[in-house]
Amino acid sequence: MKKFDPIAYKKIVKSYQDQDRPTDWFDSIYTDAEGDYRDVFWADLEPNPYLLKWLKTYTFKSTELKAIVIGCGVGDDAEALSEAGYEVTAFDISPEAIRLCKKRYPYTKVKYLIADLFDYPSKWFESFDLVYECNTIQVLPGKYRVQARDAMVSLLAPQGYILVSCRSRLKEEQEDDIPLPLDKDEIDGFIRCGLREESFEAYDDTQEPPVPHFFAVYKKLE
Ligand SMILES: C[S@@+](CC[C@H](N)C(=O)[O-])C[C@H]1O[C@@H](n2cnc3c(N)ncnc32)[C@H](O)[C@@H]1O
Repeated sequence: MKKFDPIAYKKIVKSYQDQDRPTDWFDSIYTDAEGDYRDVFWADLEPNPYLLKWLKTYTFKSTELKAIVIGCGVGDDAEALSEAGYEVTAFDISPEAIRLCKKRYPYTKVKYLIADLFDYPSKWFESFDLVYECNTIQVLPGKYRVQARDAMVSLLAPQGYILVSCRSRLKEEQEDDIPLPLDKDEIDGFIRCGLREESFEAYDDTQEPPVPHFFAVYKKLE
């Protein structure tokens, strides 16, 4: 495993962003783990507790609901959705991330695929009852953040839910940070896309020092 150096990491990401190649560095994070999913530095190696809480309180009648996980990383949240009964597609632009998922979960029911949110298979359009996004928008720069949000929304079937989990910041703070957390106005972009906000939580995580986060749920009405 290559040792993670946060300063070098930010420099590399910035240089890709400056060359307008904002997604070309992701695979290197996974290849640096040299085949061991536990060495991917941003992987929590457990499902998001806010996702688990939502899955407990939100019960559904149909047994055939379809979920899609954006930028699934090493797969913890995709597996949690599958265990909750969803038929899950989970994709990542990084081939190595998908290889690690398949190796980690050899008997999984989740369909793990290499795909690009900005050029996803056309049959996915408006076909998922639940879209799950955790920490992808925040690792993208500028216009790609809006494009990512719009692409995520376009995956929602009528009456579908999108769950958005991310780092958060106050407007005009941390403006050059990598990753760049979302501020309230940016996450409210999901409402401006025509979705209804079902719930919204702002909280600090358990790291030292604590990192502020948002966890929001939106519903597509028509
Ligand atoms: C910060 S990581 C978060 C991974 C995972 N969701 C988690 O919470 O651990 C962001 C993920 O998004 C993926 N990603 C970035 N841009 C993408 C795109 N355009 N299409 C698909 N995946 C993308 C990256 O490869 C990476 O795995």
